[in-house]
Amino acid sequence: MNVYDSTRMQDALESDGYTPTPDLEDADLVLLNTCHIREKAAEKVYSNLGRIRQLKNKRAETARPLMVGVTGCVAQAEGEEIIRREKAVDLVVGPQTYHNLPAIVARAKAAGPQVETEYSVEDKFEHMPLATNKQVRSRGATAFLTVQEGCDKFCTFCVVPYTRGAEVSRPQSQIMEEAKSLVSAGVREITLLGQNVNAWHGTGPAGTEMQLGELLSDLSKIDGLRRLRYVTSHPQDMDDGLIAAHRDNDCLMPYLHLPVQSGSDKILKAMNRSHTAREYLDIIEKVRTVRPDIAISGDMIVGFPGETEEDFQATMDIVQQTNYAQCYSFKYSMRPGTPGAEMDNQVDEAVKNDRLARLKALLDQQQLAFNKSCVGKTIEVLLEKPGRNAQQLIGRSPWLQSVVVPAHCGQIGDLVTVVVTQNNANSLLAQPVGASS
Ligand code: 5AD
Ligand code: SF4
Repeated sequence: MNVYDSTRMQDALESDGYTPTPDLEDADLVLLNTCHIREKAAEKVYSNLGRIRQLKNKRAETARPLMVGVTGCVAQAEGEEIIRREKAVDLVVGPQTYHNLPAIVARAKAAGPQVETEYSVEDKFEHMPLATNKQVRSRGATAFLTVQEGCDKFCTFCVVPYTRGAEVSRPQSQIMEEAKSLVSAGVREITLLGQNVNAWHGTGPAGTEMQLGELLSDLSKIDGLRRLRYVTSHPQDMDDGLIAAHRDNDCLMPYLHLPVQSGSDKILKAMNRSHTAREYLDIIEKVRTVRPDIAISGDMIVGFPGETEEDFQATMDIVQQTNYAQCYSFKYSMRPGTPGAEMDNQVDEAVKNDRLARLKALLDQQQLAFNKSCVGKTIEVLLEKPGRNAQQLIGRSPWLQSVVVPAHCGQIGDLVTVVVTQNNANSLLAQPVGASS
């Protein structure tokens, strides 16, 4: 989501004459687009700001003073506090007001530090200009597209409902327009984004509410669009229409990111997850029945308040039973303002570290086994970017693995048929067979 938001901010600022630079020293404006989901991510912002302050001081007396902004969920959550804590910051802008960015930058230049953390997601979507063809072309064959924002689930560990606000779905027509403009500029794979993407329930052309499965079906009819993905989902919103889309929609890639967080029903309840471990496993089974080759991915948290060794074993069990192709695992991180932070049965840091290491070892083993199972298979790869040398490109398999293929730069954006020859822990190697399309 932050990658997508950063590109949209870039698009908005380009109309004001800004262009992106990879070199910090070369910048007139530095925006830190931030994440508040875990404490470590939020703390990184301040250490980065310290570094940027030195550059700002150096430039203070020159003809090119440096402007510094903090955007994203840390900006939303901490607001003015950021300017109090770090004087180098000129603007603090929450995720709902990026369309106003050029005006906010101008105000900060003229009148000093600005804080904008107003909430109005509808506005943001309406006023965000579509990326121009030139902007999209420079970005390649794959693109993100936000279809909903915010979350009403209120998992007790999570800040998202507070930083991104209530669930808002974009209307189908807006999404179709953005998707068509991406495809006409050369995009062949679109990943639909949302904090709770499968809760999407936007208004359709007939004025009635649609569900994600139907939206995926409409999108798959866009000429030239070859692949669709969506991330990230909640088990409660995995309805039959969406499951059927995994059977019926050829564009929809056989990959599902469906976090469960824990395997213990006691912890799931304390997390306010609204489903049990059994219900999660039943959904996985349903999806696998309609799409046997689907790769399952997820998120796990260890050390949520009250988690005993027995609860942790239940997490290891659900991982065994799900057999993930890939899964993220996190130590529980106390987030101010969430119910979890108020719980008095916090787990010791050393215990969290130990559990995380054991869980990671199991997940690594599953990922390696999945990658190994691909060797010898003939698959399609969408070539995305240059590899380590001029003779290779890196693409994605249907299951989102990175695949290294001998190819030349002119083939970026091609879908090629390859046979997988070798696997690593995190990627595959392959040789082309047949013609590309
Ligand atoms: N501590 C640890 N992990 C968290 N996540 C969200 N909030 C927290 C937290 N407070 C994880 C969840 C979620 C992913 C995006 O981040 O697993 O699915
Ligand atoms: Fe956070 Fe996801 Fe739970 Fe929403 S469903 S509160 S975004 S973890």
